Amino acid sequence: MAGRIPRDFIDDIIARTDIVDIVDNRVRLKKAGKNYQACCPFHNEKTPSFTVSQDKQFYHCFGCGAHGNAISFIMEFDRLEFPEAIEELASFHGIDVPREKGQGQPDPNKRAQLEDDFALMEQVSRFFQQQLRQHPEKDKAVEYLKSRGLSGEIVKQFDIGFAPPEWDGALTVFGSTPEKQQQLLDLKLITENDKRRRYDFFRDRIMFPIRDKRGRVIGFGGRVLEEGGPKYLNSPETRIFHKGQELYGFYQAKQANRKLTRLMVVEGYMDVVALAQFGIQYAVAALGTSTTPEHVQMLFRAVPEVICCYDGDRAGREAAWRALENALPYLKDGVQMRFLFLPDGEDPDSLIRKIGREAFEQTLDNAVPLSEFFFENLTQRHHIGTQEGKAALRQEALGYIEQIKADNLSALLQEELDIKTRGHLASAQAVNRDMGSVKKFDSSRPVRTAISPVRKLIRLLLLRPQLATSNPEVNPQPLDEQLSQGLKILKKLHHFCMQNASAHTGLVLEYFRDDPDGKHLNKLLHADHDADETNPDKLYKDSFSRLIEQQLHARFEQLRVKNSLTEDEKREFMLLSQTKMTYTTE
Ligand code: UTP
Ligand code: MN
Repeated sequence: MAGRIPRDFIDDIIARTDIVDIVDNRVRLKKAGKNYQACCPFHNEKTPSFTVSQDKQFYHCFGCGAHGNAISFIMEFDRLEFPEAIEELASFHGIDVPREKGQGQPDPNKRAQLEDDFALMEQVSRFFQQQLRQHPEKDKAVEYLKSRGLSGEIVKQFDIGFAPPEWDGALTVFGSTPEKQQQLLDLKLITENDKRRRYDFFRDRIMFPIRDKRGRVIGFGGRVLEEGGPKYLNSPETRIFHKGQELYGFYQAKQANRKLTRLMVVEGYMDVVALAQFGIQYAVAALGTSTTPEHVQMLFRAVPEVICCYDGDRAGREAAWRALENALPYLKDGVQMRFLFLPDGEDPDSLIRKIGREAFEQTLDNAVPLSEFFFENLTQRHHIGTQEGKAALRQEALGYIEQIKADNLSALLQEELDIKTRGHLASAQAVNRDMGSVKKFDSSRPVRTAISPVRKLIRLLLLRPQLATSNPEVNPQPLDEQLSQGLKILKKLHHFCMQNASAHTGLVLEYFRDDPDGKHLNKLLHADHDADETNPDKLYKDSFSRLIEQQLHARFEQLRVKNSLTEDEKREFMLLSQTKMTYTTE
């Protein structure tokens, strides 16, 4: 891993880049008024709702809500990580990416160590494969693999091997010096007992090497040949192996498909291998953990469609729900997550052998969409026949919906929730709106919500950063963050815009890319961004006046409910109550 890319360089490369060139190289753009248009590359559509603004250096799709700057576009379109996207942009401009020294730059010794670790793991993996061909007891291993229906070809493709039954198979071959033995210990390929005797960690097992997404062997799973006792032994965490971040089969899936479009998450090594043997080369397995947030991110960076496969029993449904919980913050519009529950007693390995690829893929097509599973699970736990049940359902569901950054999906779930809890007080408004005909959610319709002054100001600044310097009298900095939600991020954004008078939307977004509050900014960009075009200066000033009124009102309320007031507070309270406030609701 190289060091960090300096901030200045990122700012500089954004300054030299025109987003129109970047997008146009990948999606043919047409000029439409001031902006450019195309059919959105991130969702299926027939009429173009994807626009690119040259002066804002920003793209936005009215259909699916995708938006961002040139770097985000490359990341999404080319499916690259941030540093890779910067490399791509740099090579487009014919320049090199500088790297910072110090923090983030692993020292050369550590780097050599890592390379050595990967090399050793690869050699050990080869050793296990060789044992499957040469060991005196290889027959029982080969017989076992045959009995599981594995072809020689698939055994090769996944580099499946055999850990010999001896106590010192790998130890003797790879542990010739104390240093080498230490490395074997560090990588958990051997263990040491109380009496300091050292011996092989994996013995008499079928070995599945686990590769990271770049194909390096980082750990192993080993299966016993005979039933009884724990079936699998997995490499413990080491300096190169972090279970929660790896998916078995991910590398092979990427290798087997020039362009991966979907991935299926299954439970076991054997499932991945059997599916691949039957031509489903897009299955991956979490390594004995549930699907973690890191997994979800890794999956959606690679493909737009993820199907999670579970047992149909209670444990399976619980595991699926955990995966859903972990996935919510990482869902984007235009991606799809679905759940497949298998018939009792089957796993993907047994099922595909029974019904074959075609029928299996048909069941995949019938997997349950996330939204359906979401409500199915929640309505099973809350009795929506009662007001209390509806209230509890709303509360729990809203907690989840809030975490979703994908605007259309979040709106869709919200709408369904309103329908399901119809009659409940908090949903009265929504019910009125929906009364008569239940509108089907229309993905081409931008989502509009009543927007608070803070949010309005943030939006205006994001889209027109110059508003800050051209309206210096609008200054949120002295306002009380306790009194208005979102004020902290507004202040940060306002400060940035004051300091960077010539920034455009693309640069502002870049500045907040890794900011924990930055995700709120993105959320505010979903609506139609030309809606604010008519008189932005007036809108900006009016919103600020509304914000001041809101602060006064909130302060008034704060004092009103307080038990005892100081003399100063009493005066303040009187003053506030004399001020006729027009602003009452958020
Ligand atoms: P399964 O028992 O479903 O494994 O456990 P499987 O792959 O279908 O195994 P076969 O078909 O019996 O050979 C699913 C996963 O849980 C982990 C492994 O990662 C396994 O692939 N596991 C299971 C363990 O880590 N240890 C165990 O003892 C069992
Ligand atoms: Mn199995």
